[in-house]
Amino acid sequence: MKHTDPAIRVMMMPRDTNVHNTIFGGVILSHIDQAGAIGARREGCRRVVTVAMDKIEFHKPVHVGDVVSYFTEIVKKGRTSITVRVCVESDRFDTHENVSVTSANVTYVNINKDGKPEPIEG
Ligand SMILES: CC(C)(COP(=O)(O)OP(=O)(O)OC[C@H]1O[C@@H](n2cnc3c(N)ncnc32)[C@H](O)[C@@H]1OP(=O)(O)O)[C@@H](O)C(=O)NCCC(=O)NCCS
Repeated sequence: MKHTDPAIRVMMMPRDTNVHNTIFGGVILSHIDQAGAIGARREGCRRVVTVAMDKIEFHKPVHVGDVVSYFTEIVKKGRTSITVRVCVESDRFDTHENVSVTSANVTYVNINKDGKPEPIEG
């Protein structure tokens, strides 16, 4: 299922920049990981850990003041694991132009309190 409401929407701040004054890629990666986990929880997972993230390419830079949205879509639901596609779009601060920044498939494992894989509900 594809969600049209973003799992996360964040305005980027000066603290998020790299030495070139664009947004540091690691900040976006962190948000992708969080958004995917939220997407997994929407599908019946309770406690998840990230086990894998596929290759990722950044197509456009993100700037301070941009509002970045993270949309999720379930790619694969296994017994204890779930793969979530996270699509990242940036709404430009000055122009409101909406640009596609990147996307990634992230796999999470649903775990119990002992950190062992547990079947996903639903
Ligand atoms: C995730 C973790 C609990 C899996 O434990 P495990 O004993 O290897 O689990 P299993 O081999 O039984 O696999 C469990 C599920 O994960 C899937 N899986 C395991 N490794 C995978 C990988 N590299 N890529 C994709 N899926 C993977 C399996 O296919 C299985 O899915 P299914 O039940 O839907 O068929 C364990 O590897 C772990 O704790 N890793 C660290 C996670 C973490 O801390 N992440 C944050 C890092 S800071």
